[in-house]
Amino acid sequence: MTAEQKREKVVLAYSGGLDTSVAIRWLQKKYDVDVIAVAINVGQPPSQDDIIARALRNGAVKAEYIDAKKEFVEEYIWPSLKANAMYQDVYPLSTAIARPLIVKKLIEVAHREGAKFIAHGCTAKGNDQVRFDVGIMSLDPEMKVIAPMREWVLTREKEIEYAKENNIEIIVKKESPFSVDENLWGRSCECGIIEDAWEEPPADAWGWTVAPHDAPDEAEYIEIGFEKGIPVSLDGKKMDGIKLITEVDKIARQHGVGRIDHVEDRLVGIKSRETYECPAATVLIAAHRSMEFMTLQKDVTSMKKRMEQRFSELAYEGLWFGLLRESISAFVDKTQENVTGTVRVKLYKGSIMVVGRKSPYSLYDEGLATYAEGDIYDHNAAVGFIYCWGLPNKTASRVHRKR
Ligand code: ARG
Repeated sequence: MTAEQKREKVVLAYSGGLDTSVAIRWLQKKYDVDVIAVAINVGQPPSQDDIIARALRNGAVKAEYIDAKKEFVEEYIWPSLKANAMYQDVYPLSTAIARPLIVKKLIEVAHREGAKFIAHGCTAKGNDQVRFDVGIMSLDPEMKVIAPMREWVLTREKEIEYAKENNIEIIVKKESPFSVDENLWGRSCECGIIEDAWEEPPADAWGWTVAPHDAPDEAEYIEIGFEKGIPVSLDGKKMDGIKLITEVDKIARQHGVGRIDHVEDRLVGIKSRETYECPAATVLIAAHRSMEFMTLQKDVTSMKKRMEQRFSELAYEGLWFGLLRESISAFVDKTQENVTGTVRVKLYKGSIMVVGRKSPYSLYDEGLATYAEGDIYDHNAAVGFIYCWGLPNKTASRVHRKR
């Protein structure tokens, strides 16, 4: 390259942590490129310093901060909630569904800046590398990916050494024994003692929630209002999505709700033991499901259950931006037209229970259900129904018994 030729640009998914701080220099050195650092806020706790200024001090030619919380809620969390999305029935996919959004933001910056490369700090053992790489190729098939931490396997000590040698300004926090990822929808924790699947997660593996035995002795009740499958109010007060999730999260944390301990199947063939804290997701998914049971017919609930499982797998497996996930979301949206009403939830020492629900579109009819006065059910109809319903079995039984 001659001096007049512009250097290639790389857009780096930057968190301000050790890995991505070191990656700025590593990319410049190894590929002789300009690095544009992009920090994306999906609701993780704020950093202790101005990470944007630090990225520039560490050699980025540009550094950008993008607040994507609103988009995260509206385009990723709500579609997942409407699908009651839980990977392997237990993990609300908090980390997984933030990845496609981060990818989308990186692509937007890359296009605006004329960058042909995107870099991320994922390692070779996780799901996130797949979500980043496949997300990127799904949105821009020409975009090239660089994954420094996959190419350059380093221990933490080596990384700190490299930072010192290269005058990279890093914030060396007290070394956490865990690898943690946080956003509005939950907190993921892995590594350290958690890797022993028989060991109970130690107290310090939990970062958000009060231990259930330390939670208040008094139960707390909250009311969540839904409109077309989306939570819109808490205790009768209308609020936007970010606020609602934050408020529900705060209450649920105090009651020790949302702790999950799971041995999960990663995409790369590894089983891994992880813990999650998803207080808001746990409460909202339970409430949403109960609103659905009140407003959807049995055949819809049953078909939807299958779609939900597939949706969860696709989200987990990095196929968010794909026709199947999008089509399932279209199906799910159709089912939500009447998922409107209020759910009353009781939180108590780590447990959550739906204890009441009401809806203008409730399909629950007390007149049909009651065993008391006011019964409108046609008791005689049951006999004819049972005759037809049981007829195939009766016929088969006659034939086989004869044999
Ligand atoms: N296993 C989870 C997932 O694949 C969470 C991974 C989060 N990363 C972390 N460093 N804890 O979605």
